[in-house]
Amino acid sequence: MTGALIVGVLLPVLMISMVFDVLGLIDNPYFGFLLYVVMAPLLVFGILLFILGGLFFHGKEDIGTYTVEYLKEQFTRPGRYTRIRRLLIFTAVSTLLLVFVVGVASYSSFKYTSSARFCGLFCHNVMQPQYTAYENSPHSRVSCVECHLGAGADWSERSRFTGLKQLASVVTGSYPKPILSPINDLRPGRETCEKCHLPEKFHGSRLYSKDHFLNDETNTHVKTIILMKVGSGDIQGTKAHGVHWHVSGIQQVQYRAVDQQREVIVAVRKREKGKKDVVYSLIPKTGKNAQPLPEYKSGAGELRTMDCIDCHNRPTHIFLSADEALDKKLLANIIPSYLPYIKRQALAVITGKYTSREEAGVGISRGLQNWYREHYPDLIRKNPDLFERAIQGTIEAYEENIFPEMNVTWGIYKTNLGHKNGSGCFRCHGKLQENKSGRVISSDCNLCHIIFAEDEKHPDILSSLQCLLRM
Ligand code: HEC
Ligand code: HEC
Ligand code: HEC
Ligand code: HEC
Ligand code: HEC
Repeated sequence: MTGALIVGVLLPVLMISMVFDVLGLIDNPYFGFLLYVVMAPLLVFGILLFILGGLFFHGKEDIGTYTVEYLKEQFTRPGRYTRIRRLLIFTAVSTLLLVFVVGVASYSSFKYTSSARFCGLFCHNVMQPQYTAYENSPHSRVSCVECHLGAGADWSERSRFTGLKQLASVVTGSYPKPILSPINDLRPGRETCEKCHLPEKFHGSRLYSKDHFLNDETNTHVKTIILMKVGSGDIQGTKAHGVHWHVSGIQQVQYRAVDQQREVIVAVRKREKGKKDVVYSLIPKTGKNAQPLPEYKSGAGELRTMDCIDCHNRPTHIFLSADEALDKKLLANIIPSYLPYIKRQALAVITGKYTSREEAGVGISRGLQNWYREHYPDLIRKNPDLFERAIQGTIEAYEENIFPEMNVTWGIYKTNLGHKNGSGCFRCHGKLQENKSGRVISSDCNLCHIIFAEDEKHPDILSSLQCLLRM
């Protein structure tokens, strides 16, 4: 009876709600949750309860299921014939309807729990940093599950299982703040990234221009021009070369790190088809700065095969440094570079200590107002709009990258796609040495890129290229 009651109530409600959802009439992430994570499973529960009840009390009390003998008996009695026919039609139609609704609901549940909205918004506080960074990234049209799970039931199942553990930690508030990186059991990039990117195809070199603004009065705009040797894995006879040599099909780079962050790499092995393995290990430092090698026995630490994520650990959750975040706003003219010393002053207020985003907004706004009122009172009185834009731009730069509630502050999530302070590429390059020959993994400045200009106002290379383009 309870089962029948649940089904009787939920079926029409669920059907109407699903029509609303399909037509997109209700725009609320909790609506989908209620529909597909609460009501749909409850309906299935009701159906199961109904069937179980029928089986359990079958023959007892006043419950009978359709057995052949029962039907035969009913059909032979003329008075009961029409009634039983109606009952049969009703059962058939309602079963079909149920199967249809449950089918559509299961499919929608699957789609809904795989959507970026569900992942990013449902656990709002927990996922806010990653979701915000994702929304501002080149992958904002790629759903979370395409990188975090990929296709196939195997990883889907694994994640539903770990997902339950994570749900429990959210409910009890025992999750780590910030969420730890790297993720231990992330699906290998070779199976997810390569659904869209083909390593064999990254060809040749790319010219990058990186814009910076200096801390001087005019916020001087300077450029670093780098020719990055993106290279490729091997394709149709081209030898693997350049940065993507590490992920070509013919060889593998494996490494062991002794810390959770995978920052202290102690051993690297290069395996190439038809060649002997080459092993590199950490060089002990000598002289004044001598430090003991991190403790490790051979075989300690996880052996990882290098893939996309060992360099591209921030393809979509890109948290900028304070400097980069402000440069981006200045470049887009959201913060006007016309305001004297705005880079320096914004940097000073944006890196202050705040306990919440609201407090930061007030702190940044007050900090800038106080300084400019004291030093450039006329300028901001004459250009109130310009000044207001600068304040808003600075707050945006903060809010896109910093989440005090999750302890995500400047520099918490580091990128491995470079070599600031010996991190990223320099975890191996220049640090590890071949055991026999003593040859170090190269850190020659021209191995990965050629730098044409570093923080120059008018790089010659750009003028030359412009001449070429005009020809
Ligand atoms: C383009 C691929 C991609 C997409 C899309 C993506 N992620 Fe990630 N995510 C990654 C990678 C790579 C890491 C870092 C893994 C590592 O270092 O082990 C990561 C890490 C994370 C982390 C751990 C904390 C951190 O920043 O390292 C969380 C939480 C996370 N992602 C949530 C999400 C959510 C929520 C979405 C969707 C809104 C999403 N991700 C979409 C690739 C992606
Ligand atoms: C569903 C397809 C898809 C998947 C999966 C995917 N990407 Fe991408 N990726 C794209 C597209 C499309 C672009 C180009 C975006 C643009 O330029 O607006 C891109 C751009 C990039 C770029 C260049 C970014 C830039 O700053 O211009 C890098 C690097 C990259 N992806 C790495 C990765 C890595 C690493 C993974 C796996 C963790 C991954 N991608 C997974 C589709 C995908
Ligand atoms: C050894 C580190 C490393 C590994 C491993 C690596 N990449 Fe890259 N990748 C780079 C660097 C460095 C760049 C240059 C981009 C830059 O400077 O922003 C790059 C550029 C790219 C780009 C942009 C290419 C372009 O033409 O603009 C894509 C897409 C990309 N990588 C995807 C991948 C994928 C997919 C994998 C795994 C199969 C992978 N990378 C493995 C370091 C790496
Ligand atoms: C886990 C260790 C490790 C990391 C991290 C690493 N590399 Fe390498 N890299 C190697 C090894 C090993 C070689 C081969 C050295 C040799 O044979 O002399 C190599 C070779 C190279 C080469 C030369 C490829 C060729 O044409 O032969 C380039 C370019 C390169 N790496 C770029 C990078 C960049 C860029 C990064 C960071 C984004 C990076 N590497 C990070 C281990 C690493
Ligand atoms: C193993 C590869 C590798 C080697 C060796 C290497 N770099 Fe880099 N370098 C990179 C990568 C990758 C980036 C990051 C590009 C990006 O941010 O997209 C980079 C970025 C830079 C930048 C630009 C920083 C910025 O954002 O403006 C400078 C400057 C630079 N490198 C200087 C050097 C110098 C000097 C050396 C020699 C000591 C050197 N690099 C050796 C891989 C390398």
